[in-house]
Amino acid sequence: MKKPLIVANWKMNFTIINAIVFLQKFRELVQHANATVVLCAPFTVLSALRYELKKGENSLAVQLRQPVFLGAQNLHYQEGGAFTGEISAPMLRELATYVLIGHSERRKLFHETDSDIHKKIIAAHAVGLTPILCVGTFVGQKEGLVSSFVEKELQQQLQNCLTGVSFANGQKLTIAYEPPDAIGSGNAADPQRINHVCYFIRRQLDQMFGTKIAAETKLLYGGSVNSKNAKEYVQHKEIDGLLVGSASLDVEEFVRIVKSCQ
Ligand code: PGA
Repeated sequence: MKKPLIVANWKMNFTIINAIVFLQKFRELVQHANATVVLCAPFTVLSALRYELKKGENSLAVQLRQPVFLGAQNLHYQEGGAFTGEISAPMLRELATYVLIGHSERRKLFHETDSDIHKKIIAAHAVGLTPILCVGTFVGQKEGLVSSFVEKELQQQLQNCLTGVSFANGQKLTIAYEPPDAIGSGNAADPQRINHVCYFIRRQLDQMFGTKIAAETKLLYGGSVNSKNAKEYVQHKEIDGLLVGSASLDVEEFVRIVKSCQ
């Protein structure tokens, strides 16, 4: 049975106290989920969340709890230096397991290019972080299969972001497919079409990196996911999990999403 990967993207929300209350409540409500859960939190709360997760880790009660992994939402591709206000991969490695790279808001609001994103993936891999590469194209409203235009644009994004990335030392990759018109709009994309897009992405990965990497790379859907539609996505063969934005800010709704995916 597949174990879905459910990633919360908190974006620019939550102070330390909000984040700790969320985590405590989440762990109280979810004892054993058949899902891997990742919280992509602001840089400022990662340290406190990590401390909270490690608290009492030698006790059996804590070991039996649902594991929760931490993720960041961005990084700078340089290891260090005169980059005021930025955070590097070596700094994050002490705090997180995953890092979102190339989210649609970063591309749109902060003008991140595929070339920046490529460098960020290399930087994350260099320290053993798992990048969650976000890609997206407008899927459009037409029923039926995904158009060759969408496929071409996606193929271009994947090639720009991933060409030259090495998996030789066991590096891992997750890809989140998020159509920009589905993010924060309440217009979640059709699950069947997303399954088709994920199949297409996997075929591209197969051509670029071979069958093993294509099979091991988790493919997520993101865009207006909530507890009513979550299960429809993960039931599809090619969709390994979800990237959840606004619905991940309400702990009870997020718990419903995680539980609905088991
Ligand atoms: P949303 O955001 O769930 O609020 O649509 C998803 C995302 O931006 O990753």
